[in-house]
Amino acid sequence: MKKTKKDILSIYDLSSAEIWKIIQSAISLKKEKKSKFRLKGKSIGLIFEKPSTRTMVSFSAAMAQEDGTPLNLDVKKLQTTRGESVYDTAKVLSRYLDAVVIRCFKHSYIEEFAKYSSVPVVNALTDKEHPLQILADLMTIIEKYKIKNLKDLRKLKISFVGDANNVANSWLAVAAVLGLDFLLLGPKNYGPKKELLNEALKVAKTTKANIKISSDIEDIKGSDVIYTDVWISMGEEKESVQRHKAFSKYQVNKTLLSKANKNCIVLHCLPAVRGEEISADVMAEQEVNIFEQAENRLHIHKSAMIYLIK
Ligand code: CP
Ligand code: NVA
Repeated sequence: MKKTKKDILSIYDLSSAEIWKIIQSAISLKKEKKSKFRLKGKSIGLIFEKPSTRTMVSFSAAMAQEDGTPLNLDVKKLQTTRGESVYDTAKVLSRYLDAVVIRCFKHSYIEEFAKYSSVPVVNALTDKEHPLQILADLMTIIEKYKIKNLKDLRKLKISFVGDANNVANSWLAVAAVLGLDFLLLGPKNYGPKKELLNEALKVAKTTKANIKISSDIEDIKGSDVIYTDVWISMGEEKESVQRHKAFSKYQVNKTLLSKANKNCIVLHCLPAVRGEEISADVMAEQEVNIFEQAENRLHIHKSAMIYLIK
């Protein structure tokens, strides 16, 4: 019997056990000397409406290393540009491919696509979430702090500094699902949307996650991980002036870092704008962690694809 397909559109599509499993398998895959070609004969489609370096390339490399085929479906060349419906596109691509990975502006687009697709659909970033990014981030934290179990991961204070964007939303969700100690620090007017915060707080009640939203920089104290992302996400370029003004106090720099725990690590999903959300000196000091985090995207994508389509 054909197994029912599983999508990853949001962190909430994964249980805490599934998150742990995908990360642990990625850690094992990273240690493998030789590929076992687990995705031989499998093809995935990559539909990217926005630019991408890490996600696009690491998904493609992950498939190639497992002997599968990544197909970069240039959106400009698909019939969708001439008005073909999402319904027809999803139905037809499901007949050719084993999974579809989508980066798009509107989260509702990927939801609609997944509704009609009979193969797994994976969110490679929307205006709402960036779920696989967060799995690679967690993997990096687990490696850096030599975490053996969820109980120990829950002891770390993880602080996201900046804009409550797609990346922060996925962090909020993962903190809730895994029961983490999580601070979202940034200017008041750029906090999480009420419905997303309420959803996270509801889940947090069942997992005993400690989620705090704050605009007080002093709350950074006790942090073991400081995470940041750009102040202006793709598609928000018109808001540049007001965003620079609102976020200037929230740069991840030496002063902010001095308030955190002594061995606090800094992570950034990249691309970074040095001198804005992160100072150049902190970026230089922490690049050993940040580039490891970028590498982990490859292992997580491999692990997730094996989990979804093998
Ligand atoms: N972090 C991330 O998703 O990077 P890209 O936009 O380069 O894929
Ligand atoms: N928040 C950023 C993340 C880039 C990977 C954006 O959406 O542009």
